[in-house]
Amino acid sequence: IPLPAANIPQFVEPLPTFAGQRLASPFLKVSMQEFQQKILPTQLYAQLPAPFNKGTYLWGYGVGHQPVSYPGYTIEARRELPTIILYSNELPSFAHSQLAPKLTVDQTIHWADPLNQMDMAMTEPYQGYYPTVPHLHGAEVPSAYDGGPEQWFTRNGLHGKGYATLAPTPENTALYKYPNTQEAATLWIHDHALGMTRINVLGGLAAFYLLRDQYDTGLPDNPLRLPAGAQEIELLIQDRQFDTEGQLLFPDGTPASNPNGLNGPPPNPRAHPYWIPEFFGDAILVNGKTWPYLDVEPRRYRFRVLNGSNARFYRLRLTDTVLGSRGPAIWQIGTDGGLLDYPVQLSSDPASSTALLLAPGERADIIIDFTGLDGRSFTVCNDAPAPFPDGDAPEPGTTSRIMQFRVGTSLSSPDTTYNPAIGAPLRGNGRLQPTIVRLADAKQGSLATGVKPTLTRQLTLIENEGPGGPLEVLINNTKWSGIREGTKTPIPGSQPASMGQKNYLTELPRVGSTEVWEIINLTEDAHPIHIHLVQFQLINRQQFDKEAYCATYNSLFPGGTYMGITPDGTLGQVTYAPGVYIPGYGPPMPYTTPNSSGAIGGNPDVTPYLQGPTLPPDANEAGWKDTIRVFPREVSRIVIRWAPTSLPVHAVHPGENRYAFDPTTGPGYVWHCHILDHEDNEMMRPYNPIR
Ligand code: C2O
Ligand code: CU
Repeated sequence: IPLPAANIPQFVEPLPTFAGQRLASPFLKVSMQEFQQKILPTQLYAQLPAPFNKGTYLWGYGVGHQPVSYPGYTIEARRELPTIILYSNELPSFAHSQLAPKLTVDQTIHWADPLNQMDMAMTEPYQGYYPTVPHLHGAEVPSAYDGGPEQWFTRNGLHGKGYATLAPTPENTALYKYPNTQEAATLWIHDHALGMTRINVLGGLAAFYLLRDQYDTGLPDNPLRLPAGAQEIELLIQDRQFDTEGQLLFPDGTPASNPNGLNGPPPNPRAHPYWIPEFFGDAILVNGKTWPYLDVEPRRYRFRVLNGSNARFYRLRLTDTVLGSRGPAIWQIGTDGGLLDYPVQLSSDPASSTALLLAPGERADIIIDFTGLDGRSFTVCNDAPAPFPDGDAPEPGTTSRIMQFRVGTSLSSPDTTYNPAIGAPLRGNGRLQPTIVRLADAKQGSLATGVKPTLTRQLTLIENEGPGGPLEVLINNTKWSGIREGTKTPIPGSQPASMGQKNYLTELPRVGSTEVWEIINLTEDAHPIHIHLVQFQLINRQQFDKEAYCATYNSLFPGGTYMGITPDGTLGQVTYAPGVYIPGYGPPMPYTTPNSSGAIGGNPDVTPYLQGPTLPPDANEAGWKDTIRVFPREVSRIVIRWAPTSLPVHAVHPGENRYAFDPTTGPGYVWHCHILDHEDNEMMRPYNPIR
């Protein structure tokens, strides 16, 4: 029975923080365990029967000598000093997990099935140990230690096809080495097992990983004078739904499990009984606590904000809790991959469209200045529709609120930190870190001068509709395997992945090369597109005539009999007439044949369908990004270089590996939508840099 979120008391417990107690060690053990934690207000658990009175059952990371927690203890690393982590899967089996009845794994979608049961009949569902694999999001790492979807391992030593470890370790573990070669950034660790990422992250497998360097040291005397110590705080924002036993609720195939209709039952129960296109919770948690408050001093704070939700976007502003008037500005100082050149003011004016917009997977490094606001209280408010941007507005009393800041009246020490309102540069001024290497000119919305991409790819985002709603979401109409539905032949122009994974690759960028990817969104919703290994830059966005483009696109499909959704809602052989879109067929033209604008990707050229001007990135997107919002009816253009971010443009040449490791070897990388429900089914493709 669902617990209505309106019944959860708000702002009654403090924000859990890791400020001052992060773990910085070159060698750590991180275990994955099932445990209980009071993530609702403590008072609610007192009313529950045992064993639920001890907390909500979760999966968490036990970091180092710290007890297991959700989120896991924050790990701190220093640039150029590698971190070695022994990840240990200590989760119980499906049969014994207290979460198994709550978080149903859909065994009909392509998932990390240890039995490799790929038939759709589900005659004997898997009941063994949970496959997991931790991924360090946003990091420059060798693919062996990237924690990709096929690199999973279980407690009893079953391994995915891409499993790798630095050295032989116990069968339920993997040893990963993170070189930490990139600039300081807000990275995070989360689970990435194929087809069950949405379940494993919802269960609690997430933690911050703060990478430091000589400029952003995290110490009070840091050269940038950024707030540090107790004034530097992580904020992991996630939405969840609870039942009346205080346990996580995730909709499954039975409408009875979800009578209030939140998220509804899965739209195509005969094809995939336990997959819904987007999970939206009605309760908001920050750092593993529903609607917490944080006592702050009247001074500046640095917050590392991460949207770790399955599907919910947040558009955040501060509002005076009593007066309802605008609160202090949010100053953004950094993006996914590091600091911006200059701070960017995000208005707290409710009428203004500039706020802090974060899609799942995105991070923002921000400063809020509470100076002079003694005794006041501010609520962090959210007005992002779900799904974004055209879905339902958040609920006034629940999902439109995130947490509260309560400003005290005394200072423990004078505030001499960097003041973003003065507008001094964050980078590129003498002793400060050099300015961002410009691949894109964010003001012009163009490539930066001197940047010569070796090729352009045009790639599509597609939603495949079944009789009841979305059946799956795809990148470039291609499934994870790269094999055409029905025919069992690979996409023309793809190459077999030779290393560990039995997939066909389409994106094979040369290491050292620079490419432009034009991502064409043919769906109704925004998708946060994330690419592993690299930090990239947004060039611009532009609208296009979707209907006219789709007509051309569809007309190129040859027709034939392929796997699809039959009129009775099951998966089966479907005959498509010529000129009709074939789900999972791959792009309609051979992948490597250039289209009329010279772009590869197998899609008809979008150029004739473009409408209106190119829209330059928002000021707070003008930095290194690994996850970018691709809006419906728009083409988003990004420029990617397969090289470390700090190298000047002229210093990197196609074919030349400037990483401290070889990214062309190992099981390979992936790129995908970071709506976790989407990447699970199957808006995700493997890719590999080549020489
Ligand atoms: Cu945050 Cu591929 O993931
Ligand atoms: Cu998506």
